[in-house]
Amino acid sequence: MLNFQDGHSIHHTFFDELWQQYQGITPQATRIHHLFESEGERVENDHVAFRTFANSPIDLNSLEPILLDLGFSPFDEYSFSEKKLFAKSYVHSECQTKVFLSELLWQQLSDDSQTIIARYIKQLDPNRAYGFTDGRLWGMPTYEEYCRLASESEYAAWMSVWGLRANHFTIYVNQLNRYNELAKVVELLEKNGYSLNQQGGVIKGSEAVGLMQSSTLADRVEVLFSCGKKESIPSCYYEFAQRFNVNGEIYRGFVTSSADKIFESTHGGSN
Ligand code: NI
Repeated sequence: MLNFQDGHSIHHTFFDELWQQYQGITPQATRIHHLFESEGERVENDHVAFRTFANSPIDLNSLEPILLDLGFSPFDEYSFSEKKLFAKSYVHSECQTKVFLSELLWQQLSDDSQTIIARYIKQLDPNRAYGFTDGRLWGMPTYEEYCRLASESEYAAWMSVWGLRANHFTIYVNQLNRYNELAKVVELLEKNGYSLNQQGGVIKGSEAVGLMQSSTLADRVEVLFSCGKKESIPSCYYEFAQRFNVNGEIYRGFVTSSADKIFESTHGGSN
């Protein structure tokens, strides 16, 4: 048995596997990682985020035991009423990388979207234990289906194609040497031609709330829909977080109003 209580083991099993899979559809993450290394920095993760469907064999409650087995404990809960999302964050005593796990309350969407998502969920085995790198567990949607979901919930459309995998990794800015302030990170990224998510401002949050975050816009990857149509759609993005002391302790939570805008890093725009 691997000793999952050891932070080093977690890094080399759970997060490494996720990172490999994430890089496969997020070429900018590899390039940005190398950019920081070429600046003499060692990159550490602040958190890794996942998306899933509520009320399903892959809902938050079904996936949570994997995190608990790895030694994570629930830290806080978050609601995003407009996007119809619920989320929980998890922390680890020996590993500074946190986990942000959100789920789509899809039964609050239109009948149309519910019908589509219910068809995906029906393809899941209620007796199987699913994992965070399982990817899409249902047949590829048609392009029309994807667009119908996207018109109501970009999150739902993203899930329909990508499924269970890391939605984004996040560089822990505090641990960088020269770039230990988010504004410096933003400047470096912009200087190197990366497009950042402007929703709610490039830098979301503040020192007062304990957390400042920025993110790139998701890469676009060409996929083959089940109708035979090939389209370039948003995959994953890279995030950057700087944390501050709140009441004498480094803030470990998430700020709902900032996260709400970070979710929009996978929006299709001209799609
Ligand atoms: Ni995040």
